[in-house]
Amino acid sequence: MKDYCLKVAYNREVIGGVYEMKLIFGEKVPEIKCGQFLHLKAGGEYLLRRPFCIYKFDSESVTVIYAVVGGGTRKIAQFKKGDSVCAVLPIGNGFTLSENHRKVVLLGGGIGCAPLLTVPVSYPNCEYYSYLGFSDKSMIMFASDFKKFGKTEVCTDNGSFGRAGYVTDVLRTDINKIKPDVILTCGPTPMLKAAARLSAETKIPAYMSGETRMGCGVGACLVCACAVKEKNGEIVNKRACVDGPVFNLEDILL
Ligand SMILES: Cc1cc2nc3c(=O)[nH]c(=O)nc-3n(C[C@H](O)[C@H](O)[C@H](O)COP(=O)(O)OP(=O)(O)OC[C@H]3O[C@@H](n4cnc5c(N)ncnc54)[C@H](O)[C@@H]3O)c2cc1C
Ligand code: FES
Repeated sequence: MKDYCLKVAYNREVIGGVYEMKLIFGEKVPEIKCGQFLHLKAGGEYLLRRPFCIYKFDSESVTVIYAVVGGGTRKIAQFKKGDSVCAVLPIGNGFTLSENHRKVVLLGGGIGCAPLLTVPVSYPNCEYYSYLGFSDKSMIMFASDFKKFGKTEVCTDNGSFGRAGYVTDVLRTDINKIKPDVILTCGPTPMLKAAARLSAETKIPAYMSGETRMGCGVGACLVCACAVKEKNGEIVNKRACVDGPVFNLEDILL
């Protein structure tokens, strides 16, 4: 990981309050693994950097998708084409698939779908089934991106588009047909809890990318501590920034 000076290629609103920003490297691009994130300087009075998952990357750029939820993201939303921004990257352990993981379910909730899109890019030889959940059809994003990599089910909580109901419930009805080797997930905590129950019932391993509050982003401040159960049953604190953000859903205490 290193602090880079990047140039904004674009920073545009894609749906209400959600922005996509592409950043161009002016130097050698670091090796990026699926599920890693960057820590971006908002500037001004915002001393702490803000963490965002890497949603797309290539030989010259990284792209993030972010929701404007507070002062820092409001400031970032004002970045214009050509502006220079500072970001530390790539950070975190990311998603790892083993040789036994041939059939992979990508289970995303809202903006949490973003980091999952890098998985088929890093592991192009697996078979992918994507389940993407949104509250309403006006919030749907990413569907065409995921369709390029395999069967994709779009679900809305209120039934306004696609399959109706929580995305975890829709996956539950399909899971015996798919028989995946592993589930990778990212989204709001209630969705992750439902995914943990499904994983425990079906004995299908599941890994999640979490969104704890962060301070330093380099393992020094412990702001991002989260409780994880070790193999011997002991509960220990792990740092989401450097030990995560991806954890086994069986081990993490949500
Ligand atoms: C590893 C990681 C990856 C992330 N990836 C993305 C991403 O790809 N896209 C995206 O939109 N957001 C992502 N987030 C969350 C994002 O970092 C926060 O929304 C952002 O830092 C808020 O900054 P702010 O100054 O605008 O809001 P603040 O003023 O700091 O907070 C505004 C509101 O947002 C809540 N909030 C702030 N930070 C978080 C957080 N980390 N998790 C949950 N709620 C939070 C606060 O509780 C508060 O209610 C990620 C977080 C982590 C830890
Ligand atoms: S954010 Fe400081 S240790 Fe993780």
